[in-house]
Amino acid sequence: MGPDSSRRQVVVVGRMAVPRRLLPMMMPALAILLVAGGAGAQLSPGFYSSSCPTVDGVVRQAMSQAVMNNSRSGAAILRLFFHDCFVNGCDASLLLDDTPTTPGEKSAGANAGGSTFGFDLIDTIKTQVEAACPATVSCADILALAARDSVNLLGGPSWAVPLGRRDATFPNATGAATDLPGPDSDLDTLVSAFAAKGLTSRDLAALSGAHTVGMARCLSFRTRVYCDADVSATFAAQMRGACPSSGGDDAEAPLDALTPGEFDNGYYRSLVTGAGLLHSDQVLFSNGPLDSLVRIYSNNGEAFSADFAASMVRLGNVSPLTGSAGEIRINCRKVNS
Ligand code: HEM
Ligand SMILES: *[C@@H]1O[C@H](CO)[C@@H](O)[C@H](O)[C@H]1NC(C)=O
Ligand SMILES: *[C@@H]1O[C@H](CO)[C@@H](O)[C@H](O)[C@H]1NC(C)=O
Repeated sequence: MGPDSSRRQVVVVGRMAVPRRLLPMMMPALAILLVAGGAGAQLSPGFYSSSCPTVDGVVRQAMSQAVMNNSRSGAAILRLFFHDCFVNGCDASLLLDDTPTTPGEKSAGANAGGSTFGFDLIDTIKTQVEAACPATVSCADILALAARDSVNLLGGPSWAVPLGRRDATFPNATGAATDLPGPDSDLDTLVSAFAAKGLTSRDLAALSGAHTVGMARCLSFRTRVYCDADVSATFAAQMRGACPSSGGDDAEAPLDALTPGEFDNGYYRSLVTGAGLLHSDQVLFSNGPLDSLVRIYSNNGEAFSADFAASMVRLGNVSPLTGSAGEIRINCRKVNS
């Protein structure tokens, strides 16, 4: 990627690639775009190259140990990154604990459940990063790096993570309750929820592929396997076995039954057979506008990997705090005092 893109005669401005020869005449327009394009344009992969050159290695090493010990760690961290970015942007607001006066985002419905031990893992990584580079690297950037490493350690692609985010000084519990789509959402709801964050339906199709790893609780897929019309009969019968029609809310099943612990295109191969575990998964392939893309991803793991990596960068660009906004939190669970 690196050598190639530096040879190409284009300059990437925000999300646009511009032919180099057109740059001078476009300067005034570009200046406006840089401002309007938001803070995403200010993030860069080399942000810590002099202030904390070891941060990539420290995060990678810790994630590697965590994933080796328990592959679920990778899924947990990946989900936390999504849930952080969708509420007030990628600003680590999700990581703040409740206080007596301020409810956090953690207690909102979508954040309850199986993957909360990801928070402990972020604490472990933050402690190690603080030892290497005190008060330098934000919790938001640690989460972005750890999410990238999770994907790669489970067999998926890697990418350069734009960095330079700062941490929020308050959580948004209301936002966590309204902005994270639920598992019974229809396609229109998912597309609007992503559009509200500046993400396209193509981003939706690619990022949902994160469900190629990790687990969901019975509570999240009961309606799907008991009531949906477009569910594979064999698959539904199997999943009903794991999820009683009432009770057993916390019983878990893999989101991708084909290759549950591997970051591959198994998720899409399941969708084309009607074996999406969540209603919100299957709507991507249910005689709708995203069917053709799902089919491409199901046949071509490389196409999925490339789109997933690009969409993760776009997800990571959602409203970060930069410059002197926010702070560099020392403990990811609480604002500095
Ligand atoms: C498109 C809308 C999405 C919906 C409605 C949704 C919903 C869900 C639900 C209901 C679960 C299971 C939670 C439980 O039952 O405990 C889950 C798990 C998960 N989600 Fe999503 N999700 C969406 C998009 C994403 C995105 C964009 C990512 C990351 C890029 C992601 C990553 C994950 C992961 C990795 C897990 C497994 C976590 C674990 O094993 O602990 N999801 N999601
Ligand atoms: C390893 O995973 C278990 C859960 O499977 C967890 O309780 C333990 O803290 C983990 N240990 C390390 C060193 O990450
Ligand atoms: C919390 O999130 C909601 C929904 O996105 C938003 O309208 C509101 O402005 C946010 N509140 C703060 C204080 O950022």
